[in-house]
Amino acid sequence: QLLKVFVTRRIPQEGMRVLNQSGLCKVSLWDSDEPIPRTDLLQGVSGAHGILCLLSDRIDAEVINAAGPNLKVISTLSVGFDHLAVGEIKKRGVRVGYTPDVLTDATAELTVALLLATARRIPEGVEEVKNGGWSSWKPLWLCGYGLSGSTVGVIGLGRIGLAIARRLKPFGVKRLLYSGRTSKPQAMGTSLDRLVSESDFVVVSCSLTPETQGLCDKALFSKMKKTAVFVNTSRGAVVNQEDLHEALSSGRIAAAGLDVTTPEPLPTDHPLLKLKNCVILPHIGSATYSTRGIMAELCANNLLAGLTGSAMPSELAL
Ligand code: GLV
Ligand code: GLV
Repeated sequence: QLLKVFVTRRIPQEGMRVLNQSGLCKVSLWDSDEPIPRTDLLQGVSGAHGILCLLSDRIDAEVINAAGPNLKVISTLSVGFDHLAVGEIKKRGVRVGYTPDVLTDATAELTVALLLATARRIPEGVEEVKNGGWSSWKPLWLCGYGLSGSTVGVIGLGRIGLAIARRLKPFGVKRLLYSGRTSKPQAMGTSLDRLVSESDFVVVSCSLTPETQGLCDKALFSKMKKTAVFVNTSRGAVVNQEDLHEALSSGRIAAAGLDVTTPEPLPTDHPLLKLKNCVILPHIGSATYSTRGIMAELCANNLLAGLTGSAMPSELAL
């Protein structure tokens, strides 16, 4: 008797191969690169023993009910799990797999790239070259901020935050501050207030929880340096975007680089997209070919372990 697995999107072949070669399950795939409509999701999971989902799928009581009593495991192709109603999932005795560690390096690299692109105004420069705005070498043109001698503050020094900090050090960063739940010997722990007021670069790398939702708001931006560069590669909802827009357009802070927004995708007429000092990427932190392949494989192996009741390579402690 094959177990039913529902996969909510096309995923890298490395993941599909693990599922198909297991001989354990019958896989139904939402065979598209676009998100599955809610009604198709509710229909698709019906009777499933396992669900392989993405961070863009909201997995709540309704989905779990739609799946029914067979459901044993939810495996998400992400390290973040704010899209999963974990309380509800735990209550039903369903196990959850996720993909920490394997995307740490790729996400840290992207964060450094976004930080440098924002601080050195790279997208603006590229645009000027294309649109004829480049008239000559000008001493005062397109100046930005450098890392050398700077203070960097990381909000949420977890796996990815630490990997970001490690990569920034060789740029000559003078001081590294962090604020988070646990103390870390690698960096100077401090209050959030002190972190934002003393940092030249403020990097958000915390998970989205009720405590961090809307954490970066008007009050926080008002304590930052006018020259501060703000970078977020965690979840959009950690930031109050109206307050960020106000801080950027009034010159309260210098610039922002965001790999995550609310909503995703951001509507193309969103006010943040009109600002030259805001660099926005489409949530590509873990997007290297090899990382996505490894994530898919891990996600599939988590799912199989959940189906067979064995130890998962990466199980989320609920
Ligand atoms: C990406 O944002 C992830 O959670 O994996
Ligand atoms: C820059 O190209 C310089 O020569 O200073």
